[in-house]
Amino acid sequence: MKITMIGTGYVGLVSGACFSEFGFDVTCVDVDAAKIARLEKGEIPIYEPGLDDLVARGVSAGRLDFTTNLEDSVQNADVVFIAVGTPSRRGDGEADLRYVHAAARQIANAMRPGTVIAIKSTVVVGTCREVQRIVAEERPGVDFSIASNPEFLREGSAVEDFMRPDRVICGVADERGEETMRRLYRPLNLRETPMVITTLENAELAKYAANAFLAMKVTFINEVANLCEAVGGDVQVIASAIGLDKRIGNKFLHAGPGFGGSCFPKDTRAYAATGRKYGRPQQLIEATIEVNESRKIDMAERILSALGPDPAGKTVAVLGIAFKPNTDDVREAPSLVIVQTLEGAGVTVRAHDPEAMGPAKELLPNVTWCDAPYETAEGADALVMLTEWNAFRALDLKRMRGLMRGDALVDLRNVYPAEDARDAGLRYFPLGKAAPSA
Ligand SMILES: NC(=O)c1ccc[n+]([C@@H]2O[C@H](COP(=O)([O-])OP(=O)(O)OC[C@H]3O[C@@H](n4cnc5c(N)ncnc54)[C@H](O)[C@@H]3O)[C@@H](O)[C@H]2O)c1
Repeated sequence: MKITMIGTGYVGLVSGACFSEFGFDVTCVDVDAAKIARLEKGEIPIYEPGLDDLVARGVSAGRLDFTTNLEDSVQNADVVFIAVGTPSRRGDGEADLRYVHAAARQIANAMRPGTVIAIKSTVVVGTCREVQRIVAEERPGVDFSIASNPEFLREGSAVEDFMRPDRVICGVADERGEETMRRLYRPLNLRETPMVITTLENAELAKYAANAFLAMKVTFINEVANLCEAVGGDVQVIASAIGLDKRIGNKFLHAGPGFGGSCFPKDTRAYAATGRKYGRPQQLIEATIEVNESRKIDMAERILSALGPDPAGKTVAVLGIAFKPNTDDVREAPSLVIVQTLEGAGVTVRAHDPEAMGPAKELLPNVTWCDAPYETAEGADALVMLTEWNAFRALDLKRMRGLMRGDALVDLRNVYPAEDARDAGLRYFPLGKAAPSA
């Protein structure tokens, strides 16, 4: 079976490489000629653990290639996936479907009869039917099938997630669509991966409901953390105590600076917009979005107050810019708001991130970028742990303190034990627990 993947970003490239690993012939298409040129040279345009090996294997086996020529590739494909971006529309938060619609038109004009078009992009309910209409209008009378196959991989562990998913969800509208999706994911049968075959609408909604729920869970524990600080609790103890309840589970219960990234922010906004559109407001998610927005500002204010009554002119060293470890993705990372708020208060920011400095430089032009954590600490009045990369988990805090001008450690990921900070001569500001007395 020949697969064409339209959109060679985080999802398209990982999915394409994984399908080629399953043994299918895959062509990944993108409009970004520079991205395709790099892939053709064997360079991977994003940071994603394990992806380079997988791509190299697929290419050398002759099962994976890259092109900007959508038409040629679609003409030869049995299945065409749409994996283009679905960002937020400015103003109303609804998903901007223009790239999906454009891809649908291009596919319609190139496909052969019998093609299955599967939408992997995260799209609001009703989009698959809309794509079906667009394709039918462009190519009246040509037989094709439509399927919804939302993707649940997480950046940072995308390859592993694709290969060992908790479940695969496929929305189908006919037998050919169902049969094709079953064949594509048959390699996962060995691991007894549950497969939910359902309607197009259920599949579309399930993706948003899952992300909305997870975003709400993260936001919930952040509010618990606030309460812990006021009453002398410890959010890490509360999280493990409640997480042991199987109905709750221990995932996504880590207090932090708010959720970010390329999915939760835009997907919660789109989900909330869908609720409003259909007169069924999703009030929990509306509140989740609001609480999360204010959390990022709250984090910046905590850092400013750790700097003392007059933060202007002081220097903060930030460790971690990516929205989570093991990715170079900085889309809607909390760090962006936090750094900009600090700079707005007259603070100079030095920062280091193992993979995300390239993409972040354009967005944060005033930051002094440093090659390593210790260099970042030089002359800083406060050190801020913002993304919990493994490389930041065992730093020599005494050495850090020795390089700093000031003595504040604001740990927005609760990475360090309070005693270690105290022993290093640092004033420690954790999340969701009382700051230890000096
Ligand atoms: N990133 C994630 O972790 C993740 C996880 C699950 C689902 N998703 C969803 O998957 C979709 C893609 O996300 P992403 O992070 O991979 O996006 P991305 O921005 O990394 O990649 C999208 C790619 O599509 C290309 N593109 C756009 N229009 C095109 C066209 N007509 N023809 C060919 N290429 C085209 C762009 O140039 C870009 O390279 C989104 O809907 C997203 O919500 C993302």
